[in-house]
Amino acid sequence: MQIDGARFLKDLHDLRAIGASGIAKGVVRPAYSAADIAAREWLADRMRDAGLDVRFDPAGNLWGIAKGKSLLVGSHSDTQPEGGWLDGALGVVMGLELARAAQEAGGPAVSVVSFQDEEGRFGVTTGSAIWSGSLSLDHADTLTDSAGTSFATARAAMSHLIGDFVDPAQFSGFVECHIEQGPWLDEAGQSIGVVTDIVGIRDMRVTFEGEQNHAGTTPMHRRRDAFQALSAFNTALNDRLRNVVTPQSVWTIGHVSLHPGAHSIVPGKVVFSMQWRDGDTARLTRMETVIRETAADVADATGMRLSFSEMLGLEPVAMDAQLRKALAQAAQQIAPDRWREMQSGALHDATNVAALMPAAMMFAPSINGISHTFYEDTHEADLLCGLNVLAAALPALAKAGGGS
Ligand code: GLV
Ligand code: MN
Ligand code: MN
Repeated sequence: MQIDGARFLKDLHDLRAIGASGIAKGVVRPAYSAADIAAREWLADRMRDAGLDVRFDPAGNLWGIAKGKSLLVGSHSDTQPEGGWLDGALGVVMGLELARAAQEAGGPAVSVVSFQDEEGRFGVTTGSAIWSGSLSLDHADTLTDSAGTSFATARAAMSHLIGDFVDPAQFSGFVECHIEQGPWLDEAGQSIGVVTDIVGIRDMRVTFEGEQNHAGTTPMHRRRDAFQALSAFNTALNDRLRNVVTPQSVWTIGHVSLHPGAHSIVPGKVVFSMQWRDGDTARLTRMETVIRETAADVADATGMRLSFSEMLGLEPVAMDAQLRKALAQAAQQIAPDRWREMQSGALHDATNVAALMPAAMMFAPSINGISHTFYEDTHEADLLCGLNVLAAALPALAKAGGGS
């Protein structure tokens, strides 16, 4: 089978041009935005050119389906509000090149997917969660983004494209190639990571409601300032979590909405995101208890009304042993001693797909471990190395799942 590295790199750069931020190689393609839909239509054309049967499902997931039982390869093409050019796109375009090369060589059959809203504008890996059945479409339709737009409204922007859900039984397994998004491969000068397992996540919004008032006339002791409550919560939480976490545990307040948000008004309300991740379900639950108790204690002490949104999450998931072995053997063949087995601290669609079929993941290094920023990048030689490993692994990957 002859893969074409130049064609693969050209596709990656052509895709990057759709929603390019103009800063470094950054991209702005949030799920269901005009740029995201344009990118999906561009990918659909490439899939058609590759002889694949193109479908969009009701969540907006894009499929390029090969005939017969096939290996599914892909990732996502939506981005964070400030995203990198490779996060998700790498796995989709690698899938495309692999499917094309496999078609030209007469097999094995490779299908390609670009899942929708992996980056969680509305939830946590929304498109693959819906397809895998862990989140119903009706439930997803009630979810809102940080600006209050519902999933139902957002996905209506793709209504002219969408058809039925795709039957998972036609796929023998799933392989997702992705950038590492962390520092370990880059620091070690390695080119390939074969993923052992993906950590779990919990995500929700927390609201403190105090009293909006005048910033000049309200004495400090009479204030019920929602920002001060958030500040106290953050300090207390960092302190209390120390008792239950390990160095792998992470927690983030990444979005804060302060109401009404004016220099001269004591803010009466704050809504903020609260997310935490760990490889152990029991620890995720212990962290949840600490988070809820700390918020309640701070609310009591500062006179806030406290509420929590619905909590979304994904459990930690192990990757399939046979698919992993196929990737590891190919990594050792193509990049001897420049690869490792490793955990994924980032979330991926593979978590959801693993509920339906054997699933595995492979990483390429991220320069300086930087991702979820316009400055995310990977050396071209490492991108090509990843493609070569995937191509070398394809016969074993296809055979492992009983594909054609
Ligand atoms: C996915 O991008 C994640 O947040 O890990
Ligand atoms: Mn991603
Ligand atoms: Mn991401």
